[in-house]
Amino acid sequence: MCGIIGYTGKKMNAKDIVLAGLKNLEYRGYDSSGIAVNENGKINLYKSHGKISNLEDRLKGKEILSSTAIAHTRWATHGKPNETNAHPHRCGKVTLVHNGIIENYMELKKELLEKGVTFQSETDTEVACAYINDIYESEKDKIKCLSKACSAFRGSYAFAIIFDDEKDVIYATRKDSPLIVGLSDDGNFAASDVSAILDFTAKYILLEYGEFAKITKDKVTIYNADLKEIEKEVKVATWSATEYKKNGYDHFMLKEINEQPDVIANIFSRYLNDCNYNDIDFLKYDAIHIVACGSAMHAGMVGKYLFQNYANIPVTVDIASEYRYSTQMITPSTLVIIISQSGETADSLAALRLAHSKGATTLGIVNAVGSTIARESDICIYTYAGPEIAVATTKGYTSQVAILSTLVINAMKQKGLLSDELFENIKQDFSNISSNLNHIISKKEDYINVAQKIFDHNDLFFIGRGIDSAVCMEGSLKLKEISYMHSESYAAGELKHGTISLIEKGTPVIAIATNNDLYEKTISNIKETKARGAFAIFITTDNFKNSTFEDFSDISITLPKTTEFVQAIEVSVLLQLIAYETAKLRNCDIDKPKNLAKSVTVE
Ligand code: F6R
Repeated sequence: MCGIIGYTGKKMNAKDIVLAGLKNLEYRGYDSSGIAVNENGKINLYKSHGKISNLEDRLKGKEILSSTAIAHTRWATHGKPNETNAHPHRCGKVTLVHNGIIENYMELKKELLEKGVTFQSETDTEVACAYINDIYESEKDKIKCLSKACSAFRGSYAFAIIFDDEKDVIYATRKDSPLIVGLSDDGNFAASDVSAILDFTAKYILLEYGEFAKITKDKVTIYNADLKEIEKEVKVATWSATEYKKNGYDHFMLKEINEQPDVIANIFSRYLNDCNYNDIDFLKYDAIHIVACGSAMHAGMVGKYLFQNYANIPVTVDIASEYRYSTQMITPSTLVIIISQSGETADSLAALRLAHSKGATTLGIVNAVGSTIARESDICIYTYAGPEIAVATTKGYTSQVAILSTLVINAMKQKGLLSDELFENIKQDFSNISSNLNHIISKKEDYINVAQKIFDHNDLFFIGRGIDSAVCMEGSLKLKEISYMHSESYAAGELKHGTISLIEKGTPVIAIATNNDLYEKTISNIKETKARGAFAIFITTDNFKNSTFEDFSDISITLPKTTEFVQAIEVSVLLQLIAYETAKLRNCDIDKPKNLAKSVTVE
């Protein structure tokens, strides 16, 4: 939800530096972008509607000499995505970029309007800017001014701020939106995350809620909430700049799909060789709550199935934006598992804090190292999937499923429910995962064939039972978010309770059947759709291979049969590729689907 970066340093091409960094933050939003530079003591703003490339085109050929710049890429919350609403915003002596939402901005705006302040945009950010400027008129100590202003703001914010009367200094602060301060010999940065600064430095400081940073070209001073100077640990980023490049792939999504064989194999071998989950005592908990958003919630659905069916542990899965406001039975005997690729999702973070406040144990399954959810969880298990740039998650999701599988195996061991035979089979699957996934990825022609049959339809349905039903939810989301086709996922037995009325001649139905016990039931459900004209695509495992698929399906694809601890991952990779090929045929912007942003740091 919006990316921000600021640079002040020895170099006079601050504009190019922040634009390069901003491009690595584009996954956070791409409705509009803008930059503010100090040119010969005058703050100039340049803004553009749409992606950062539009801003770059606008600035092409302009000689802008400045050693300080702040920049922003926006995911619109308050006001349309146009140039007026684009950041930076400016009022009086204050210019700033903001990530987050000032929830009480209407109240503050009224106060400012009564004082005669006028506004150009519809944004909460312009109000925050004007509010800081208003306080600055009487409080000239900038840190004190910011502290006073922030104490009036409700909601979330990460700000990078420049003042007209103090050249080459950037101030920064945050609450519930991420912000780091980057350090280099040539200058210093404020940014939403380390990806923005990796081309220049790997050294950074994590700014915590309530802290303020004063950033100059050769010094960074951090103040705590009592406005006292404090020392902070300097961290070194573990992800490198090259991991943020496409490295020859047409899309980041395709690159990330192709990284899954290694990512998942690494998780399984880490688990088998160095299981560090022994501090999680599953016997201690009455219940497990899995809480997450979007695809991470879908990973939770797979986890629920595995926990309940194999470890006999009751599990609920909740959408974080609901859980945080619900009257759940959260007690000190609840294990609350928060799943988040970014580790910054606002609702998931709020759910984590709620669970803490009720004394539950919290376990974060997180990809972004050092992110807020990772830091605030009692126990954090990293997926170590590497940076995920495509807005639609692929390796982020499958790595979450892989971690959940290993947790379930651990719970089974602790409860004496893991037979030697099953464990041997699982270990076999773990060692085959990389070659199986590579084999699935290599079957490109199969996915193009499916895509050609479905891409010109308006509606599509996914059906499956048991674990396949959970996998369908993610397959359906993947397809709709990147191809803009309407798609719904249904437990196969549920479709006939209403939604089957939408099936007509040619409607594509993707059915998944990998479970021995449920296989025939799912086939009956496919037949129900076929009888009403559906175009049925059947995905199953090679142990069921027989000649009868064509009796009830128009296309069938088979996968290697494995235990359910890895099967969901394999089917998901296949569905990602169908979504990818379909989106390609529909000429969609695969890595940056419309209206989306990768890191959802607002409610
Ligand atoms: C879909 C997708 C989203 C995220 C969701 C949670 O492809 O990526 O649905 O899964 O926004 O994000 P994280 O995992 O960062 O909390």
